[in-house]
Amino acid sequence: MIMMRRLSAALVALTLVLITAAYGGSGDKGDKGKAGAPGIGDRYFPTLGNGGYDVEHYTLELSYEPGDDVLAGTATIEAEATKALKSFNLDLAGLEVESVTVDGDEAEFERDDAELIVTPAESLAKGGTFTTEVEYSGVPDPESDPSLGIPLGWIPLDDGSYVLSEPNGAQTWYPVNDHPSDKATYTFRITVPDPLIAAANGLLTEQVPGDGSTTYVWESGDPIASYLVEVAVGNFVIVEDGTAAGVPIRHVFAADLADEATEAAAETPEMVEFFSEEWGPYPFEAYGALVVDTPLGVALETQTLSLFGSDTALFAGSEAIFAHELAHQWFGDAVSPERWRDIWLNEGFATYAEWMWKEHDGGESIAESAEDIYRGFEASGDDTVLLDPGPDGLFGAAVYERGGLTLYALRVEVGDDVFTEILRTYFEKFDNQSVTTADFVDVAEDVSGKNLDELFAAWLAQAELPPFPGASA
Ligand code: ARG
Ligand code: ZN
Repeated sequence: MIMMRRLSAALVALTLVLITAAYGGSGDKGDKGKAGAPGIGDRYFPTLGNGGYDVEHYTLELSYEPGDDVLAGTATIEAEATKALKSFNLDLAGLEVESVTVDGDEAEFERDDAELIVTPAESLAKGGTFTTEVEYSGVPDPESDPSLGIPLGWIPLDDGSYVLSEPNGAQTWYPVNDHPSDKATYTFRITVPDPLIAAANGLLTEQVPGDGSTTYVWESGDPIASYLVEVAVGNFVIVEDGTAAGVPIRHVFAADLADEATEAAAETPEMVEFFSEEWGPYPFEAYGALVVDTPLGVALETQTLSLFGSDTALFAGSEAIFAHELAHQWFGDAVSPERWRDIWLNEGFATYAEWMWKEHDGGESIAESAEDIYRGFEASGDDTVLLDPGPDGLFGAAVYERGGLTLYALRVEVGDDVFTEILRTYFEKFDNQSVTTADFVDVAEDVSGKNLDELFAAWLAQAELPPFPGASA
C-alpha cells in the first residue's frame, strides 16, 4: 500500500501527464501498457522493489523441511496496477519458479538475476487490481549483508529456520515488491513436520493437523514492510504473558532457552505500557519476542515479533535491546522509511528509546546517556553524514548514536513537552505509512513553531559533529 499524501507528488505527476500530453507521449487509446520498472527508485538499492503496481496483500503458503532445507511455496499477491502494464517484475533471488498465473490465467515469466519478470496473458489496466500466483521451491540462498556481513534472508538451522532480512533478504524466500515504501498485509500458512512449530508476524489463528505435519496459520492485519516479515520454524514454545495496554503479549522461544528467555523478556509488558503512554497506543495486534537457539550478532524488529539470537537476548545488558526492538514497532515498523538512506529515522529513534527506558527504570538520566554516547562517538572520529550513510553504513554507529543524539539535540532546543508532542504527532500522522526525513522535520517545525533548519542541517547534513547540546562553547 502506498499512500498518496503529498501535494507536491501529485503536482509532479500532473506535470508529467501534461508534458506527456504535450509531446504526444505514449498515451494512445487502447494502450497495451509498458513494462513496469525493475526497481522502485531507491538510489542505494536500484533493483529493490519494482514500479507500476502496489501490493495490498500477500498470502504465503509454505512448507519447509529442516534437514534438506527445501522451501516450497505458493505466493498469492493481490496488487493494484498504478499504470497500464504489459509486464511487471517481482523480486526473487534464487529458487525455482514452477508456474505463474495472473487472475487465474497462465502467465509467461522469465528470470534475470533477482528479477522475476511476469507477462500476463492480457495487459493490466491502470487502477485495476490483479492477483498473481507464483509456485516456487528450492533451497534459499541468503544474501550477504552490505554492512555487517551477516547472512540475510531465510536462514536454515539444524532443526528449523528463521528469517532476518533487513534490508534486502525478503527476496531470498518469496516473490515480493521488496521495498519498505510498499507495505502490505499478510496471511501465512506454513506446514512443518511435527513436532516443530512455525511462527510468523501477527496472530496465530489456526493449527491444521496433517499427516505427520501441522499447518500453522498466522494473520497480520496491519501492513508490514518486507524486511520486517518473519517466519521461523523450530522446537518452539509459545509463551503468553497477558496483555499490556490492551495488547496481547506472546513470545516464541526455542524450547531449550525458554526459562532464560522468559526472564530476559520479563519487562516487556511494562515497556509496552511505557512507550504507549509516551508516543500513543502500540500500533499492532500483538507483541512478543522470538528467541532462536543460535547467536545472531544482531536483533531485528520483525513486526509484532522481534527476532533475537541467543546472544542478543540472553546477556546481562539485553534489556536495552528489548526496549530498542520494541520501540521500533512505532518507529521503523508502523512509520517506515521510504528510502533506505533515511535509516536514522529508525535507528536514531530506537537508540533514544533505550535512554528513555533506562531513565524510566531508575537508571541513568537521558541527559547522562546522551552525554556518554556523545563522548564516545566524538572520540571515534566517525564523520558519517546521517542523511547519506551509504548502503554499507546503514547500520553503522553513526546511524544509531548520532541519530539518537539528533533527537536529544531537538529536545534540548524545543523543551521536553514540545519534543514529546513532536514524536506523538509524527507517529499519529504517519502510522502505517512510509516517510522521509523531510516529513519528520516538517512535523518538528509545525509542532514547535520554530525554524529548525540550522539544527537539522548541523546534525544530519554535515560531517562535523556539533557540540554537545546544551553545553555552552
Ligand atoms: N534493525 C536492527 C536493529 O534493531 C539491526 C539490523 C541489522 N541488519 C543488518 N543487515 N546488519 O538495530
Ligand atoms: Zn534498531
